[in-house]
Amino acid sequence: MATVSYTSSTIDPELSKQFESALARARAGRQAPILHHIGNTESDAGESFASRDPANPATVLASAHTAGRDVVDAAVAAARGSAAGWRNTHHEERIEVMRAAADGFATREMELAGALSAETGKSRLESLAEVQESHDLIEQYCDVLEAGNGFITPMKGRNGEHNVDVLRPYGVFGVIAPFNFPIALAIGMTAAALVTGNAVVLKPSDKTPLSTELAAEIVRNALPDGVLNVVQGGPATGTALAESAIDGLAFTGSAKVGWGLIQQLSRGPRPRPVLAEMGGQNPVIVTDSADLDAAASGIVRSAYGFSGQKCSSTRRVIVARAVYDGLLERLVARTGELVVGDAALQEMNVGPLIDEVIADRVERALKSADTDGHVVTGGRERSLPGHFFRPIIVTGLPRGHRLTREELFAPFVTITAVDDFEEAIGEANAVDFGLTAGIFTTDDRQIDQFFSEAEAGVLYANRAAGATTGAWPGEQSFCGWKQSGSTGKGGLGPWYPQGFCREQNRTFV
Ligand code: SER
Repeated sequence: MATVSYTSSTIDPELSKQFESALARARAGRQAPILHHIGNTESDAGESFASRDPANPATVLASAHTAGRDVVDAAVAAARGSAAGWRNTHHEERIEVMRAAADGFATREMELAGALSAETGKSRLESLAEVQESHDLIEQYCDVLEAGNGFITPMKGRNGEHNVDVLRPYGVFGVIAPFNFPIALAIGMTAAALVTGNAVVLKPSDKTPLSTELAAEIVRNALPDGVLNVVQGGPATGTALAESAIDGLAFTGSAKVGWGLIQQLSRGPRPRPVLAEMGGQNPVIVTDSADLDAAASGIVRSAYGFSGQKCSSTRRVIVARAVYDGLLERLVARTGELVVGDAALQEMNVGPLIDEVIADRVERALKSADTDGHVVTGGRERSLPGHFFRPIIVTGLPRGHRLTREELFAPFVTITAVDDFEEAIGEANAVDFGLTAGIFTTDDRQIDQFFSEAEAGVLYANRAAGATTGAWPGEQSFCGWKQSGSTGKGGLGPWYPQGFCREQNRTFV
């Protein structure tokens, strides 16, 4: 398997050629519709919808069907039927099954990467990294369960009593996956639920049914029937899943949708966990001692990679007034070198936005930025058929402006000048989100203060290879604070699989 990560900058030319063939195959379209997978049956129930190429929306890549409440309920029932058998499978065997599934990602690497770039518009480097990440996520969660001895922990005992603490699966987990990492995030959430012994009903994003289905197929084929079920559809299908008889839900997506799901599940009939990761408004602080070239390199990669459609993307630059001009000049120069285009171009850096809904939102934001501040560079790229934007830099917005507080999933960065470090930290924390944050400085005391005071779950100092992006399974944990996450325990790291379990004490004499 190609070892490409989000911080890689080159790809072997032979791999590149293979990727181009795979992309062309994905763009030729899939004839057979994508079906729902319920137990050992397949279904095409529900209205048909199309998956389109965001670089050329006239191209239909595949068709799928919107699962209604009856289809979702049948999938939950199938998961319920298989849950006991899977739960009672020894954890070492579950780990073995999941590691075999991980190997399938290596075998089908190019097919998956081609589908990813066709369906999301991401670059070959990002797509190959995502396939590798999916493999590594499964391995990571297997490692965590293995290191925790299946989450079985002997406790102290007295008077001849023996005590054991056990983390046990809830039963059936719903998983609602996003469009932006339709393989890695769908598989990461699903793998953590599965390896800990839950059965799963997975709902991919309706913008990326193909990528998620191809990945889910690999995992499904390694499992007993009914342990992983997949229902396709949009928000109505997500609502039906949240209102079904699931025992818990894992979700990655917007704060608005995530909040709605948390509220839906809180209605009962009993408390149920919602493991939600809900975006960010991620700051990067650049101090007067920073290496400005490293800062500009990190910010540009982090803000505009995958067109800013990562929950980890840099959205706000908070810079010491003394180096404001020097940084801005470097940022403008570097964004000017980025190539806007589609994934078939080897040198492409900035691809299309996923759909016209987001593109409209960006156009409105640009108007507002133009009225209330200054659009230094960037805007709609009308020479291409898809939803393309040239990287946008905005300055001069009043402190607290909506565009510096809300998440816009786009290649859109605001720059704010500050007079001292306290003000920089205050501005960095002045949002409801708390996912990632970065700093560029050569002053170790400022790094210590940043690590201690920044209100975010993923902190980076001086990361020129991606200021706030590029977390990797087993290397960085990925936790949303504040509105960015619901559990205080992040993906990719040592505590995520435990969130899919409930604790049980066992005392025996
Ligand atoms: N793991 C990726 C990153 O950190 C996607 O969220 O950027």
